[in-house]
Amino acid sequence: MPQIALVTGASSGVGEALSLLLTDRGWRVYGLSRRSVELEGVIALPADISDAEAIRRAVGQLLDREGRLDAVLHCAGVGGAGAVESMPEEQARQVMEANFWGSWNVCQATLPYLRKSPRARLLLVSSIAGHMGIPFRSVYCASKAAVIALSDSLRLELRGSTVQVACISPGDIATNSIATQYRQPAGDLDPLYRERYRRADEAMVNNVDQGMSARHVAEKMAAILERETLSPHYVIGEPVQKLSTIAQRILPGRAWEWVLGRYYS
Ligand SMILES: NC(=O)c1ccc[n+]([C@@H]2O[C@H](COP(=O)([O-])OP(=O)(O)OC[C@H]3O[C@@H](n4cnc5c(N)ncnc54)[C@H](OP(=O)(O)O)[C@@H]3O)[C@@H](O)[C@H]2O)c1
Repeated sequence: MPQIALVTGASSGVGEALSLLLTDRGWRVYGLSRRSVELEGVIALPADISDAEAIRRAVGQLLDREGRLDAVLHCAGVGGAGAVESMPEEQARQVMEANFWGSWNVCQATLPYLRKSPRARLLLVSSIAGHMGIPFRSVYCASKAAVIALSDSLRLELRGSTVQVACISPGDIATNSIATQYRQPAGDLDPLYRERYRRADEAMVNNVDQGMSARHVAEKMAAILERETLSPHYVIGEPVQKLSTIAQRILPGRAWEWVLGRYYS
């Protein structure tokens, strides 16, 4: 019998690559995103993760067809850039809605069924940016930090169950994510921020352009899915990016701020 997986964010980037990879490996994959996915072998479940009721309905459709769910790979997410002082609140809220509340909704809708699988896996996708505060990406960092906390809490809550949870924190990935995110126009920012914002924004765009391939991240996630015992956290990226999450934890606060400040000077 094939294992049943729900992959969110399946219409693009990591979710798309992972849906195809798992299908190739014999999983039956349901691909969830707002746009209906058209990937060979992947069953489309169009839904918005910020809409709890829509997610429950989509998961209900999967359950009606399969009767069980073995893995959830929650890749859907959005970026967002702007200054805390002036980024439109509505844009900031959309990032939190999709990244934090979307993760919450996906967990609530799927956990009752995952708990019935004898070997269930739930992978939540955060970001290296969730381990630190990056200038002009505050709401994205906050939303991904919230995903890390959600994942850590869930692991402890699920003790004694068959569900293993892990939080995946990738570095930059060369996907379409820049094109689909809100980026505050530099001209809207106060002169205090404007030049540093321009440089930070340019660095973000370049880093994503030159980032890992979505396929590479999908392969790493598929390998994590196969492990017998999952660790709480997996960082996927360049050695320096992995090191940054450790340095952030062990360096005194001002020393870490000095390091990051040099990068974003
Ligand atoms: N790209 C990077 O450099 C990078 C780095 C670290 C972490 N990440 C994280 O890795 C994950 C995958 O990123 P990616 O680069 O592959 O992104 P991507 O190519 O932009 O794809 C994002 C996916 O999420 C879906 N999505 C977004 N909002 C949604 C919503 N409200 N409801 C349902 N689906 C929604 C999109 O589908 P629809 O638009 O069709 O809904 C799309 O399938 C995200 O969580 C992202 O934050 C990315």
